Amino acid sequence: MALEKFADELPIIETLKPQKQSNGSTYYEVTMKECYHKLHRDLPPTRLWGYNGLFPGPTIDVQQNESVYVKWMNNLPPRHFLPIDHTIHHSESGHSEPDVKTVVHLHGGATPPDSDGYPEAWFTRNFEETGPYFEKEIYHYPNKQRGALLWYHDHAMAITRLNVYAGLAGMYIIREKKEKRLKLPEGEYDVPLMILDRTLNDDGSLFYPSGPDHPSETLPKPSIVPFLCGETILVNGKAWPYMEVEPRTYRFRILNASNTRTFTLGLSNGSHFIQIGSDGGLLPRSVKTQSISLAPAERYDVLIDFSAFNGENMILTNGTGCGGAVNPDTDANVMQFRVTKPLKGKDTSRKPKYLAAMPDVTAQRIQRIRTLKLTNTQDKYGRPVLTLNNKRWHDPVTEAPKLGTTEIWSIINPTRGTHPIHLHLVSFQVLDRRPFDMDRYNEFGDIVYTGPAIPPPPSEKGWKDTVQAHAGEVIRIAAVFGPYSGRYVWHCHILEHEDYDMMRPMEITDLP
Ligand code: C2O
Ligand code: CU
Ligand code: CU
Repeated sequence: MALEKFADELPIIETLKPQKQSNGSTYYEVTMKECYHKLHRDLPPTRLWGYNGLFPGPTIDVQQNESVYVKWMNNLPPRHFLPIDHTIHHSESGHSEPDVKTVVHLHGGATPPDSDGYPEAWFTRNFEETGPYFEKEIYHYPNKQRGALLWYHDHAMAITRLNVYAGLAGMYIIREKKEKRLKLPEGEYDVPLMILDRTLNDDGSLFYPSGPDHPSETLPKPSIVPFLCGETILVNGKAWPYMEVEPRTYRFRILNASNTRTFTLGLSNGSHFIQIGSDGGLLPRSVKTQSISLAPAERYDVLIDFSAFNGENMILTNGTGCGGAVNPDTDANVMQFRVTKPLKGKDTSRKPKYLAAMPDVTAQRIQRIRTLKLTNTQDKYGRPVLTLNNKRWHDPVTEAPKLGTTEIWSIINPTRGTHPIHLHLVSFQVLDRRPFDMDRYNEFGDIVYTGPAIPPPPSEKGWKDTVQAHAGEVIRIAAVFGPYSGRYVWHCHILEHEDYDMMRPMEITDLP
């Protein structure tokens, strides 16, 4: 059954209301619940798991330096409705872990370690059972960081892909007062867009494969799949929605919350975006561009000027397929803008060229340069297992930067695909990408470069926390590891990779 495109209006995600607010500190409560939502006009409601029963979850909207506390609660049913592979990450204690476990991570947040959502800090309904790293019920977010679009999502050990696919994701905006002077579009003209893919059955229910298409008999059932591409594209929880806009400039804060899929966004009439920000906040200067490449978890903050298109429609398109070419009936379209609303008042917003100061991280002393490889192996069932530097999740910590020091991570990707690499706690700068001879590397293990190091494009000249490590390239990133010490993680943000086993602990250690 083909769903009609642009049949539903784009939902505007609701903002979470605090439970308590007192001098500079705010307390929220969020409960994860099973819920049913119509993802398209012509579909019956879909069973989902949502924060406060919403999909996407409610947006948490805070000021820079506002001290925020959130009690995340799990009120989900005792059984998972998506297929769990019980052969990955048995609990080390030997007895099996509960099926429905959750933990919340604020992606992009500089968060103390006990509030960061460590995969093994999971908890079940009413905190009845908790993982070995569980420390507390109420998480603290100091928000001492640049204004930016962050997002929160589930991070439970080995089932992150299923919990996020079920709907456990929401936006988190940190606003910085200084930004006011830039006169960017505000209020109803500042619109977060959470874009993601899902596969839906004809009855509207979510489909997640319980194994590869042609499983061998020896594979466990269910068996984790190495990637997940859905053909229905949803924005703010609706399939291919439309949005009516005024002929003026809007700000869109765009997040790709897909499990595996990368989007290349464009506008059907060939007009351009003005990119003003990336994962970690505003860019040093704005960038005019006709296409935006967004891997899972990456964010782009853009302006679109509709003033020359009064009365016209334009489509937000996608040019990159997921395991094949884009299909005009499905993933080639994202949403539609209809420039049909009358202008409410003069558009006094601006499109500034210069946005934010950008210090050079490498101007400080480099404490350490780490060389890290994206690697793979096989499990006892013959399934591919993607790993980081040939280590599995449960191997002892190897990445242990000292608190407050600067490191360069040089990441070699000799695999066939792009992996969006994400570090918790820090924002980093991309230094360069350099192509090397992959065949030679895979045979002899030495790096022979086949071209010069290329500095990042203007779109990546800001702060990043997730970056595309392309096949056959060495990418170098630099970060100051702080402001907290303790246990974090770094991983590939393709959730099917992260769950098995492309994730490693990272310990920020105190200086002696
Ligand atoms: Cu978006 Cu480790 O997470
Ligand atoms: Cu993160
Ligand atoms: Cu990956």
